[in-house]
Amino acid sequence: MPVKIIKRSSKIHGHGVFATAPIKKGEEVVEYKGKLRTHAEVDEEYGGQDNGHTFLFILNDAYVVDANIKGNVARWINHGCTPNCQAFVIGDEGGDPRKDRVVIEALRSIAAGEELTYDYDIQVEGPITREERRLWACHCGAPNCTGTMLKAAKAKKQRRTPS
Ligand SMILES: C[S@@+](CC[C@H](N)C(=O)[O-])C[C@H]1O[C@@H](n2cnc3c(N)ncnc32)[C@H](O)[C@@H]1O
Ligand SMILES: [Zn+2]
Repeated sequence: MPVKIIKRSSKIHGHGVFATAPIKKGEEVVEYKGKLRTHAEVDEEYGGQDNGHTFLFILNDAYVVDANIKGNVARWINHGCTPNCQAFVIGDEGGDPRKDRVVIEALRSIAAGEELTYDYDIQVEGPITREERRLWACHCGAPNCTGTMLKAAKAKKQRRTPS
């Protein structure tokens, strides 16, 4: 995978990731790396720390990628309501859940200088409270911005919030 991205300050939030060269639609941009941990481990370490910030990505029913530890540049990619990338899990061919991987791919062609975003798809069971909306406010700036990174739960969750 050629390196076409860089971490720098973002208008959306803190640091973000920007293209340093044109990226084609469908191109695999970067893998989301971090320490493989069980849900119980991350619950024990981060449970109760809901401050609207997370470097956790749900890999599958057994594991979470914890980018607080051994994370790479992908952990700085911000959420967008009209994202130019998507994150998805590639299942291990041998069915080993420890070997599943999270990959970020371009949803459209991206010009050099553009900030990369993907939909975090953070799903919340039950009604989203005012406090949750405040903690997880979205500043992506898209015309269709929902104002929050949270969504009402569907069948599958992608990213963990500390709980
Ligand atoms: C994986 S980190 C992304 C890097 C982050 N910008 C930073 O500097 O730490 C995810 C966190 O960044 C913030 N963030 C990401 N996208 C955002 C958005 N669209 N609006 C507001 N905050 C956002 C939230 O705190 C979120 O939990
Ligand atoms: Zn938004």
